[in-house]
Amino acid sequence: RGAALATAVGALLGAQVAHPALAAPGNPGAPRYSAGAASVGDPYFPDQGNGGFDVKHYDITFTYDPASRHMDATTTITAVATQDMDQFNLDFRGPEITELKVDKHPASFTRDGQELVVTPRPKLKSGQVFTVTVKYAGTPPVITDPDGSIEGWVPTDDGAFVAGEPQGAPAWFPGSDHPTDKATFTFRVTVPEGVTAVGNGQLLSQKTENGTTTFVWDSTEPMATYLATMTIGNFVVNESRTPSGIPVYTAVDPRLVAGSASAVSKIPDMIEYFSSIFGPYPFASTGAIVDRAPNVGYALETQTKPIFSNTASVGTMAHELAHQWYGDSVTPTRWSDIWLNEGFATYATWLWTEHTGGASAQTTFNSSSNYGRAATSSFWQTVLTDPGTVDMFGNVPYNRGAMTLHALRGKIGDTAFFKLIKDWAADNRYGNADTAAFIRSAEKVSGMDLTAFFDVWVFQKGKPSAW
Ligand code: ARG
Ligand code: ZN
Repeated sequence: RGAALATAVGALLGAQVAHPALAAPGNPGAPRYSAGAASVGDPYFPDQGNGGFDVKHYDITFTYDPASRHMDATTTITAVATQDMDQFNLDFRGPEITELKVDKHPASFTRDGQELVVTPRPKLKSGQVFTVTVKYAGTPPVITDPDGSIEGWVPTDDGAFVAGEPQGAPAWFPGSDHPTDKATFTFRVTVPEGVTAVGNGQLLSQKTENGTTTFVWDSTEPMATYLATMTIGNFVVNESRTPSGIPVYTAVDPRLVAGSASAVSKIPDMIEYFSSIFGPYPFASTGAIVDRAPNVGYALETQTKPIFSNTASVGTMAHELAHQWYGDSVTPTRWSDIWLNEGFATYATWLWTEHTGGASAQTTFNSSSNYGRAATSSFWQTVLTDPGTVDMFGNVPYNRGAMTLHALRGKIGDTAFFKLIKDWAADNRYGNADTAAFIRSAEKVSGMDLTAFFDVWVFQKGKPSAW
């Protein structure tokens, strides 16, 4: 039913709307209001995401002062209701909310941990497009993950390192923080003159007046919340293009320019090479952010501009750029399928290494950190499709994941394998997919029954000995 019709029916049945329990039986078109689900029910992060609506766009506007660490923000979410709704939740762990409106109407709300519970009045009808405007001010929190890493809003000596996998996004903006609710984003960020604010997507404008600079960034393709960044600091900015014309924007902490130059200079060639084997680069621009963040020990594939902490190696650059296809454009439906991100990105690095004259993918497969590990190693005792939240960024999703792809390539042959990974990117572009879908695609492309193969590689513990 279209939104207009739903609205008209709602207006005609105004009296019943106030008494949905009485109205419903005799009036099938009458709204039946209920609360949207408090999460999408992903067992790894049970609070993430929300039911009852689908976010279409985030407009995140704030000023940030690196010296005081004070943020003054207004985030406007545009969403469509997927049910008649009298209450809904957002995920938010940020500072104090000073005002919240649904459309033009102030709405009451409560907060409990990551859950921001909103009571919209008037109520929302299924199919209705609505906005939620949240004003908040203060210092966004650092979030500690099950593996002990920090993420979210991580202050640095000149700004903030901002990363959100797997649960950091609600530190700095309210939303629906599960990989299955992708949306477009616009960021409007004001910082002291001389400081740079770098976000996902393309720089629409950069204006300095009265000692502050406002950066407007537009992320035009759908993005999962965990891939959002707005990293702030002193940066050496460079703009160029790949050989096929994709804009490249890099922002590197001046103290890290020398150490990351080799990796940063290879971005255009990597994008070209990966496009040749994975299919067209999925986004309107590319680049990288290299920031000094002493207590952060990882890089992240923030969409269009992966972020690196303290250093960027060539191998990590290849890994994060490959994630743009596998992870960012095609995203797991559930966190337990993280190998679909990390195994692909790791395998892409093996391919890059071989492509540039280093070890072959077969040699890397055989090495002591991969298949060469002893069968008695605890490495083999984790099931690839269920690493748990503590080890979801540990060796198994990365290395067993990459090994699985290399073994599959041997099993189905190069032609079928490279068609499979290209089709996987094309068929699931901007969407979500799971291991079962990958197995179906592999069987379809190869024409083979791969039950036994995937059983030993992804569903069972132990070192596969034959497949
Ligand atoms: N996906 C990132 C990468 O492999 C790693 C993120 C790690 N995050 C964490 N909280 N441990 O490129
Ligand atoms: Zn990765």
